[in-house]
Formats: sequence, C-alpha cells, structure tokens
Amino acid sequence: MKNLVSMKDLSVDQIHAILEQAQAFREGAISKLTNRFTVSNLFFEPSTRTKMSFEMAERKLNLEVLPFDSDFSSTLKGETLYDTVKVFECVGLDVLVIRHEQNNFFEELVGKVNTAIINGGDGTGNHPTQSLLDIYTIWQEFGTLQDKVISIVGDIAHSRVARSNADALSRLGAQVRLVCPSEWQGEFEAFNEFDDVIEDSDVLMMLRVQHERHDGKTTFSKEQYHQMYGLTIERERKMKKNAIIMHPAPFNRDVEIANELVECDRSRIFKQMENGTYVRMAILELLLKGRE
Ligand code: CP
Repeated sequence: MKNLVSMKDLSVDQIHAILEQAQAFREGAISKLTNRFTVSNLFFEPSTRTKMSFEMAERKLNLEVLPFDSDFSSTLKGETLYDTVKVFECVGLDVLVIRHEQNNFFEELVGKVNTAIINGGDGTGNHPTQSLLDIYTIWQEFGTLQDKVISIVGDIAHSRVARSNADALSRLGAQVRLVCPSEWQGEFEAFNEFDDVIEDSDVLMMLRVQHERHDGKTTFSKEQYHQMYGLTIERERKMKKNAIIMHPAPFNRDVEIANELVECDRSRIFKQMENGTYVRMAILELLLKGRE
C-alpha cells in the first residue's frame, strides 16, 4: 500500500491485517519500523478526533511530526494544494495526512508526488481511517463482520463516513442498511423509516446532521429530526439484546442521539475514539514498512 485515500485501496485481506495489527498495538506491541520517518497533518477542515489520534499514533510509532497550521500557510496567499504538497515533498516528508473540503482532492496528488498520502476526510467523499476504526470496533465486539446487520442512520448524502463504510462493510460480509429522509438519500437506495430497522440490527451507526453542508436548506427542526430519525430512549429499548450503538462523532446530543444514550451500556462511541489511535498506528506502520 503506497497511499490510503479510499477503502477501495484495500483488499479484504489488507483490512484484516490492519485489524490484527491494531489489536496487537492495543495489547502493547511495539512498532517494527527501523527508520525514523517524518510526517505532517494537513487539516484544512476542522477536526478533533482524527487529528489528535493521528498525532498520538505518530508519536507512539516514534515518528517525527512536523506541525502545520492551515491558517498560517501560504494556501492563504493562493497556493494550490498540489503546490503545498510539493513543498512537503521537497522538504523530505514521508507521509502527509490530509483533510480537505474538496471531494477527491487526492486525485491531483497520488502518483504525482513521492510523499505518501493518507486521506483524513475529503468533503462528502471518503473517510477511510474512520471506516477502519469503525470496522475494528465492530470486529472487536462480535469477532466477525459476516452477516452482521449494520444500519447507518442519518445524513447519508453528506456523509463520507457512510460512503466509506457502505462499501467496506459489504465487502466484509455485513448486511448494510442506509436509513435517512428521502431528501438526504443521495445516490443510494435507503430505508426512509428508522423504526423498520431497529429490532434486527446488530449495530445502529448514527450520523451527524451536517448543517455546514446543507447550504442553509435544512428542512427539519432539531426536535422534528430527533423524533423521526434520532435514537430516542424508546427506540433504544427495542434494540436486540447485544446490539451496539456507534457514532463517528462529533455528535449533536438530543438530535441524532438522546443525551442519556451517549454513554449508555450499549454505546461504543468512546471506544471508537480509543480505537482510532491503534487503527491509525496500524495504517501508518503498514504504509511506512513499504518505504523501508
Ligand atoms: N469522526 C471524525 O472525523 O471526527 P473529527 O471531525 O473530530 O476528526
């Protein structure tokens, strides 16, 4: 693997190798990298989890991390993303983690620069490292993805998490259901009634309502959305005995999920955040081994 920009870059065997290595790191394994590689995290959109867990993963792998602040970079003088990345290539960076508002921003980079690119989220397109940590969390819970019923609920059209997960989870044998209002269905087939999927789902993966991508055209009030598509306490009571709740976060309390359910026994939301570091360590190590 030379870059990771989409889940389509990974075979099922490679996904399983990342899960195994994430588990090994979780249990205290030490990195096998022998070179001292240099990385930087270029975030042009806001992030807390992805940026912090990449930084933690990089430090745990003993990588050299160069700081980058998009608010003080020459992109503000009109420098393109490609030209910015060329600077990092010239300076000698081995890996760049990039989050950018433009869908498929990586197409102008992959194969054209020597620095490896990891996609930390492109517009509404892809979020492969989130998908891998979601898959790891489900695998940790059930030991397999095969035949698990996974319902992804919410703002599907604007969700890079839904796009990355729908593809990857299906390839791993899960039954994926997308649930959303018809206005937010995008290119997908979807269930429009949340109550139709609750009782037989093994995983309810709630998505954030992405107001910043709605051009001011959101059609629901927060209260209406919560009643129609939110995980309420009444809906949680109808879930299967061992079913779990996930959310990539950040979450809107009492919109996608009732405040009381965020840290309930079924919730794996904070486990997902913990797992982010181990999964990103596994991704970085796999990618950098190929450069030794
Ligand atoms: N899940 C996720 O990508 O969170 P951040 O936007 O905080 O990185």
